[in-house]
Amino acid sequence: MKGIILAGGRATRLRPLTLVTSKQLLPIYDRPMIYYPLNTLIKSGIKDILIIIAPDYSGHYLNLLGTGEDFGAHFSYIVQKEPRGLADAFILGKTFIGNDCVTMILGDNIFDQDFSSEIKSFKSGAMIFAKKVPDPERFGVVDFDNNMKAISIEEKPALPKSNYAVVGLYTFDNSVVDNAKNLKPSARGEIEITDLNNIYLRKGEMKVNIFDSLWEDAGSFDSLLRVSNYMQQKSSTK
Ligand code: G1P
Repeated sequence: MKGIILAGGRATRLRPLTLVTSKQLLPIYDRPMIYYPLNTLIKSGIKDILIIIAPDYSGHYLNLLGTGEDFGAHFSYIVQKEPRGLADAFILGKTFIGNDCVTMILGDNIFDQDFSSEIKSFKSGAMIFAKKVPDPERFGVVDFDNNMKAISIEEKPALPKSNYAVVGLYTFDNSVVDNAKNLKPSARGEIEITDLNNIYLRKGEMKVNIFDSLWEDAGSFDSLLRVSNYMQQKSSTK
C-alpha cells in the first residue's frame, strides 16, 4: 500500500494566513498541519508516501520533511502546477503508485483515530470513511438505504440526502489510475474525487466505514482554531 498526501491548492479562504506560506504548513497547536495527515498514514503502516505540493512553497516542505527518515518513512515529492481536482493525485502519482494499492489523504484533514485495521485489511475496489456532521452541504455526501448500504455520493449538494460527510481519506486498488484518467472535468473545471468514488459505488466495489471520532477539514479559520484547541486539550490531559 502506497500513500499520497495532497497538499497543493492556493487556500484563498485562509488569506492573509496563506499569503506567504502554504495552508498545510500552518500550525495546528504545536506542529505544522501536514504532520497530522502524515501520522495518519504512517500509523496505518504506510511508509512510502508521495507528497503533492503547490509550486510556491515547495522548498519549505523539503526543508521541513526531508527524505522522511526522521518519521521512519520514505517521502517523495511532486509539484502540482495547477490545482486540477483531487482525483489528479492519481494521475500525477501514476509512476509512484506503480502496481500497488494507494491511500490518499487530504493535507488539511485532521483525524484522531487509528485506521490501520481497515487499511491493512483492504483488498480491492475502493474504501472511504464517513462521519455524521451538522453541515453536510459543505462536503461530499453519502446516502444509505435502510440496510446502511451506500447508494449515492454527491459533491456539496444544496439539499443533502443524508448527514454523512465523506472525509478526505480514500483507499483504492490499482484500477484508480486508469479510472482517474478517464474522468471528465466537472462544472467547476476539476476532476472530482466524488466522480471517482461513484465509479466504484456503481460497480458495488465501494466499502464505506462510518466513524465518530474527531475529524476536521482545517481549511477555515474556525476549524483551524477548533482543531488546535482540541490538540491542546489532548496534550494537556496526557
Ligand atoms: C473535498 C472533497 C469532498 C470532501 C472534502 C473533505 O472538498 O471534494 O468530497 O468531503 O474534501 O475535506 P474540498 O475541501 O476540496 O472542498
